[in-house]
Amino acid sequence: MKQPTRLNHPPQVDVPADNRALVAPIYQSVKFTFDSVEESQRQSRGERPGFQYSRVSNPTLRQLELTLAELQGREACLVTASGIAAVHLALLALCKQGDHVVFFAEMYQPTRYLVRRLLARYGVRSTMLSIEDTAAVERVLGQTPTRLVVFETPSNPMLKVADLEGLTAAARKHGALTVLDNTFAGFHNFGQFDVDVFVHSLTKYASGHGDVMGGAVIASKAIIDGMRADFVVSGATLDPHAAFLIQRGLKTYSLRYERQCRNALAIARFLAGCEQVARVHYPGLESHPRHALVRQQMHDFGTIVTLELRGDREAARKFSDALQLFSISASLGSTESLVQPGELMRPRDMSDQERAWANVSDATVRLSIGIEDEADLIADLQQALTLT
Ligand SMILES: Cc1ncc(COP(=O)(O)O)c(C=O)c1O
Repeated sequence: MKQPTRLNHPPQVDVPADNRALVAPIYQSVKFTFDSVEESQRQSRGERPGFQYSRVSNPTLRQLELTLAELQGREACLVTASGIAAVHLALLALCKQGDHVVFFAEMYQPTRYLVRRLLARYGVRSTMLSIEDTAAVERVLGQTPTRLVVFETPSNPMLKVADLEGLTAAARKHGALTVLDNTFAGFHNFGQFDVDVFVHSLTKYASGHGDVMGGAVIASKAIIDGMRADFVVSGATLDPHAAFLIQRGLKTYSLRYERQCRNALAIARFLAGCEQVARVHYPGLESHPRHALVRQQMHDFGTIVTLELRGDREAARKFSDALQLFSISASLGSTESLVQPGELMRPRDMSDQERAWANVSDATVRLSIGIEDEADLIADLQQALTLT
């Protein structure tokens, strides 16, 4: 073999079946080959296992899909290149022209855009409600045949809480599928509820280190199989290296999430006692309007704490600028703590009524709590509050 040929046909290294790598290797290969055309055809027809092309499937992605499906307590999963790609895939694959979707003012803005603007262009109608208003959901589902109820809980950034039992029962009664973006509460929450489809941004708690993007749709095998053809032509495939990083991040998911929740509860309690703070929104505080419900339906209270300062936009700015350990940044779920003042989070795509439901003011500040030392974080908040 001449050099140019060898360079394109490198020697193969076979690993014996009883000599496995403890950490699964990254299959950084777009293409997979079989020894014969017949075997390749059999794989295409689903008559044997295997892989052909990484946009369709890849062993590294497959491992992550199996892990996530089990974590969320469902049969199957498709991983995508970002969280919003997962939302996009779920909504587009599950809706057709003429369908009606119920969604909520408190949702992630790009998801609202997807429902209200993008799906609307393809003839999907929608109704936006407030997440705590289960009676309104019942009413709308009773009046209008509905394909999907798409929701999040706790909501971002005001941490409003959906009644999972009420919402899923109403959807089931009226023949609608439920899609829960469970990025905030995490894989270990809500698997016991009658939710049809979970979506997650893996960019947040799953990867956990703020250095990789990804998303997942998790559901029954029947639902995921029904989405597969649409997924393959969406082009939103996760890169195997990103999948590897997410799989690695997941090793510490439980430890990180637990620590972040513990820090968050301590910080919420501290802030609730500060004179500069008008109100603290945290599902773990007894003052939260749905604290009792949260205790029933969640294993923990989440890692986001939102506060209302006694003051205006200037106070929220000064506070955010003065924090040393909390970086001013969007996103959440990584190991480091972050801060977002209200002026960076105000919804612009809403009517007055919808904005009132979303309820973000200039004096609102969202804290995404990391895994740092609790006392250091509280000391930092204390020094920043004195400047407001
Ligand atoms: C609740 C929720 N869903 C989806 C997304 C989108 O995820 P990604 O940024 O990975 O596309 C985000 C991102 O902030 C989010 O907070």
